[in-house]
Parts: sequence; C-alpha cells; structure tokens
Amino acid sequence: MTFQLPNDPDRDDVLAARPTLWTNPLYRDNAIGDASLPLTPDHVDEAQANWARLAPLLETCFPELKATAGAIRSNLIELEALRDALGYGGAEFGRVFVKADSALPVAGSIKARGGVYEVFVFAEALARREGLLKDGQDIGDLAGAEAKALFSRHTIAVGSTGNLGLSVGVAARALGFKATVHMSSDAKAWKVERLRKLGVEVVQHEADYTTAVENARLVAESDPSIYFVDDEQSRQLFLGYSVAALELAEQLHAQSIVVDAEHPLFLYLPCGIGGAPGGVTYGAKKVFGDFVHRRARPVALRARPHDERLGRTGLGLRCGPEQQDRGRRHGGCPHVGLRGARHAQHARRHLHGRRHIALPLAASRP
Ligand SMILES: Cc1ncc(COP(=O)(O)O)c(C=O)c1O
Repeated sequence: MTFQLPNDPDRDDVLAARPTLWTNPLYRDNAIGDASLPLTPDHVDEAQANWARLAPLLETCFPELKATAGAIRSNLIELEALRDALGYGGAEFGRVFVKADSALPVAGSIKARGGVYEVFVFAEALARREGLLKDGQDIGDLAGAEAKALFSRHTIAVGSTGNLGLSVGVAARALGFKATVHMSSDAKAWKVERLRKLGVEVVQHEADYTTAVENARLVAESDPSIYFVDDEQSRQLFLGYSVAALELAEQLHAQSIVVDAEHPLFLYLPCGIGGAPGGVTYGAKKVFGDFVHRRARPVALRARPHDERLGRTGLGLRCGPEQQDRGRRHGGCPHVGLRGARHAQHARRHLHGRRHIALPLAASRP
C-alpha cells in the first residue's frame, strides 16, 4: 500500500532520514480539557480502577504478577552513568530516566499495558453480560472452569506486527479464549512461534501492518463470536496505556521529583501508529498538565526507536522483546515494522493540541 505524508515543510527531511524536530503548530494549553473530545481525563482514573479491580484475576492467570499483587508495572531506572554520554551532563539538564517497559511482565513490552487491559476488560464485560459474574462476586472466578467454557466460545482477534499480538494472544489464551493474530509480513519468526505454542492461530499476511489490520477487521465484522482489538480505533487500548503515566507520577513522587513550570518533564516515546505513546501522553497531560512535553519518534517510517539516540531522552519507553533478537544484530536498533501505518484514532483526536510530536532522529524511507 502507499500512504501520503502531510504536506509539511519538514516532510523532505523526514523522508531523507535527516534529524528533524517538528513542533506541533496546533499546540494549545490544556487541550485535553476540550469538552468536545470523546474522552475526558476521568476516563484515565476509571482505567486505573479497572486495572485494580482486575488485579486478583491477573495474579491468578499470571503467577509472575504475585510480587505486585496483579499489577503490571515497570521500574523507573535512572541513567546516572549515561547522562554525559547522552549529552545531558550539564547543570542545565535535569535527571535522566528510562521507564523500563521492555521488562514489563506478561508480554515484555508497552503493549502489555494496552493489549492485556483490553482483553481482561472485555472478559469481565462478557461474563457480566452472560450472568457469570454478579456484583460483589470474586473476580478471580473468571479463571475457573465455567468462565473458561464461556470464553472458549469466543475469539479475540488482532492485527499486529508482533508486540500487540503477543500481549493480546497471551492474555486471551490465559483466560481460555480462542485467539487469532493477523501478522504483517515483517513479523518476527520467534513471536509467531511463541504464539502458536500458546495455541494462538497466527495468520501471516504477505502485506504490511495496515493491510493485516484491515483484513482482520473484515473477518471480525462478519462473525459476532469474534472480538476485534482494533489498534487503529480502540479506546480501551488507549486508556490501558494511559495508566502508565499515573504509575510514573507515583515513581517520581517517591523520589521527591517535582514537575512544575521550573522543572518540566520531557517524555520521549517510540511511536508506531500512535496509540501507545498517545495513551501515555494523554495520561501524562492529566497528571502533569502543561508541564509535560512529549517527543515521539515515529516507528512508521522505519525509524529505529531505540537506538542510542533514544538516550537523548528525559524519559524513554524502551523497546520490547525485539531488542533481544534484532537489537544485538543492529547495534541495539530494532524497528517495530509499522511501515505505512495509519495513526490511531484516539491519538489523532486527543493529542492534536499537544506540544511537539515527531522527532525522527533515525528514519529511513519506507
Ligand atoms: C515496543 C513498542 N514500543 C512502541 C510501539 C509503538 O506503539 P504504537 O504503534 O501504538 O504507536 C510499538 C508498536 O508496536 C512497540 O512494539
């Protein structure tokens, strides 16, 4: 497929893989307070409450979550030794951290926040609809035989280059759903293999990411037993990611780090279709207001979101398991393979007025 980049003065720089800073001309203060948007900041609190309510079920399904009582969290690691090397050694710069989502339990990437959340929220809603979960009943019952029998009559489908498919597939199978992951041609073989071992049906498309998603959506539309996790349109994915910002706020607070006009926070986020960085940014705008600024590095242009220059970060959400197989061969520079992808609807709508978006430090032609 072909796709059009906006007719922006920076477009040629992006295509030529020249380091480019694009600042959002539509930026305005407190844009998430716009009442015409379908989401409100309260939805982030709701998502956090959903995560908390689902935690006992998550803990039962994934024993590795015992230590955190069912929470899927990552560490915030300070890069003291790397500050100089990254160009942040001067007194004018603040502290530099990495939020280690690459080590998130269950699925090993930021996609665990969105994918696992959406599958578990759907499972709970389905169980309530079918009378299998009543108010006040232990949510852990959804790991039992009766719930599994219900879930096994439903399929969770998703289109993915890998990490979202992995998180959705792992979550779906843990609850007993059937799962189908439509993968683009550039998906990693080891992810395909791991999903198949879990009993996930993997459909490999001889096409790019957007085409894989379109095909998956079409199949799901014709079959009511299929629930489609729609990376390009999903509100649940977006909200699942958004809670990362509340976790970050808690971690910064624990270190007595203040974020205010004198001490702004810069988030550097790898960006594919924009759902994950969009959700995190939306949550961050809710917690830190206009004292947080986002810089997103597009993966869509085969940018390499996690190369050494990601280190030019106030905070980076590092890459998922690709790092293990590709990173070593490419000097720690995996691409996530989202060539030609469209932007996630919620990211587009809700982040229109946010500060600078694209920082393609290492893009190559799609
Ligand atoms: C590890 C990792 N980080 C970031 C992203 C970008 O997420 P999004 O496509 O929602 O922008 C991806 C996309 O697959 C990913 O796998």
